[in-house]
Amino acid sequence: MSIQNKVALVVGAQGIIGRHLIEHLAALGDWDVIGLSRRGGASAGRVRHIVVDLLDREDCRKKLGSLSGITHVFYAAYQDRPTWAELVPPNLAMLVNVVDAVEPIAPGLQHISLMQGYKVYGAHLGPFKTPAREADPPHMPPEFNVDQQAFLEARQEGKAWRWSAIRPSVVCGFALGVPMNLAMVIAVHAAMSKELGLPLRFPGKPAAYDRLIEMTDARLLAQATVWAATSERCQNQAFNINNGDMFRWSEMWPKIARMFDLEVAPPLPMPLADVMADKEPLWNAMIEKYGLARHPYKDVSSWRFGDAVFSWDYDVLADGSKARRLGFHEHVETEAMFRGIFEDLRRRRIIPSSPARRP
Ligand SMILES: NC(=O)c1ccc[n+]([C@@H]2O[C@H](COP(=O)([O-])OP(=O)(O)OC[C@H]3O[C@@H](n4cnc5c(N)ncnc54)[C@H](OP(=O)(O)O)[C@@H]3O)[C@@H](O)[C@H]2O)c1
Repeated sequence: MSIQNKVALVVGAQGIIGRHLIEHLAALGDWDVIGLSRRGGASAGRVRHIVVDLLDREDCRKKLGSLSGITHVFYAAYQDRPTWAELVPPNLAMLVNVVDAVEPIAPGLQHISLMQGYKVYGAHLGPFKTPAREADPPHMPPEFNVDQQAFLEARQEGKAWRWSAIRPSVVCGFALGVPMNLAMVIAVHAAMSKELGLPLRFPGKPAAYDRLIEMTDARLLAQATVWAATSERCQNQAFNINNGDMFRWSEMWPKIARMFDLEVAPPLPMPLADVMADKEPLWNAMIEKYGLARHPYKDVSSWRFGDAVFSWDYDVLADGSKARRLGFHEHVETEAMFRGIFEDLRRRRIIPSSPARRP
């Protein structure tokens, strides 16, 4: 272990990725952790939260300007926008603001970890080359992940710190009030189907039901991200990180239905953003009926993201062997991951406990 204290700045501390990064770092026991978000959070033990607007340069300088002990930055903030082009300016600006605020005042800075995704390979655009590999050439801009990496690479030249870029598939774990949370989409969709006495139907494109896809468990991702940031062999490189298995929804969907004690019915394309738009009263009634935690409907609804993932009528796969070759050997069985997340959502009283029998 380094004689220097390890101080992690987790940027995007309330996100689906940032939350699990903080949990993992805190559990490791030899890190001090500072989490950044607009919402903030309860500081405890070696974890403290700072409220900051990363889009506001001056706010960043003011709130981060005294954090001279930072050794590692884990960047996992995200601003959602309706188009790929609109994603670029805010997402690049937030990263630049953090680096501009921290780099000059943190002499012990060792590493900046950048959270990316398969967007680097064009997975969101259409059928892309699979399995995608880290060395594959980028696609036509705009692409904020690529711009962020280019900024870090340029900024790192001649400096003592290093960077890594982590590329997960769809990330599954616990978070509230975030735009991209597939496990929550499935859980709330299934809980509502059950409440309405309906079988569980895959709501995406028919061809998407049979294509190969993989997921990334948020806890596995946290382990991999810290591994890459602290391993000598991983510096200034990108890594695909996924569970290590792959599946087709046609196989997984009936298994998920069983996790909710539901029958499965043939797929039917139905945009969740449309069909779930009028379901807030149903959700509120379910909160009362089952004594669920009082989270607003908008905080458990990532319908637009669900529609995007379920529309992928092409394989969504990236080769995760580079991380394994360099020493990261953890893997997760995706079916068990979904089961575990749904059980966690029941424990947190976000969905009814299982099986939620109809009256
Ligand atoms: N989710 C996925 O399935 C997935 C898959 C592959 C790749 N990725 C990539 O991973 C990265 C992180 O995504 P994510 O899904 O973890 O994002 P997320 O869940 O939406 O979290 C974003 C975080 O950024 C914070 N944030 C946003 N704007 C901020 C601002 N102006 N000032 C301070 N904090 C701000 C949010 O907290 P507040 O709202 O409290 O400010 C939140 O903590 C993105 O580049 C994304 O493309 C995600």
